[in-house]
Amino acid sequence: MDFKDYALSQLAAPPQRILEVGCGHEGGVAPALASAGYDVLAIDPDAPDDPPYRRVTLEELDDPGPFDAVVAGRVLHHVHLLGTALDKLAALAPLLILDEFAWNHMDEPTVGWYESQHRLLVAAGREPKGPADLAEWRARHADLHPYETLRAEVDARYEQRHFEWRPYFYRWLGGPASESLEEGLIAAEAIRPIGFRYAGVRRETVRSPADSR
Ligand SMILES: C[S@@+](CC[C@H](N)C(=O)[O-])C[C@H]1O[C@@H](n2cnc3c(N)ncnc32)[C@H](O)[C@@H]1O
Repeated sequence: MDFKDYALSQLAAPPQRILEVGCGHEGGVAPALASAGYDVLAIDPDAPDDPPYRRVTLEELDDPGPFDAVVAGRVLHHVHLLGTALDKLAALAPLLILDEFAWNHMDEPTVGWYESQHRLLVAAGREPKGPADLAEWRARHADLHPYETLRAEVDARYEQRHFEWRPYFYRWLGGPASESLEEGLIAAEAIRPIGFRYAGVRRETVRSPADSR
């Protein structure tokens, strides 16, 4: 299931107002949610030009909400002031839907599998999106939040409604069988899952501006 289908499976039926944070230059899941009848605002400093996109960071966003849900794909582990960002998201919407990357859960067999797949694909004439060398990648991304930090900050504000570990490297590899191979190896416990999906509901102690109107 891709992230758009996951998000759709967690959302209540439209009409609903949805905020996508960190939609990226490709536009994220906003078009799929809009096609399904949701009223969407999607933000990212690298967002496409036209509505429903706005080229702003979450910190710059001046829309007071309320939204019915926030969706964010592979974004929160990048956000520096994570607690402040999550306070803002929890104030804007009662539901948080995430597609995320537990990069610090890569162990030796997982790294070894990924790098060997990368080499095989390159030898076969493909150009995987992801890096060839994960140690070098980690050195360049020392500022990312590890899974446990992200979970602690999310759990302080939201109650988990759904969670699943899942493959992640297949997106970087892009080979014809990368996803099924990664899934099979995770099921056999030969490598670790480093992707996860999460849906959570705002804890009652976190009040939104809309609640006090
Ligand atoms: C790995 S990309 C993911 C893009 C897209 N969601 C996807 O899954 O393909 C992370 C994105 O988060 C955005 N981002 C990081 N910090 C952000 C912030 N504070 N506010 C809004 N977007 C942010 C970056 O600009 C980048 O486009």
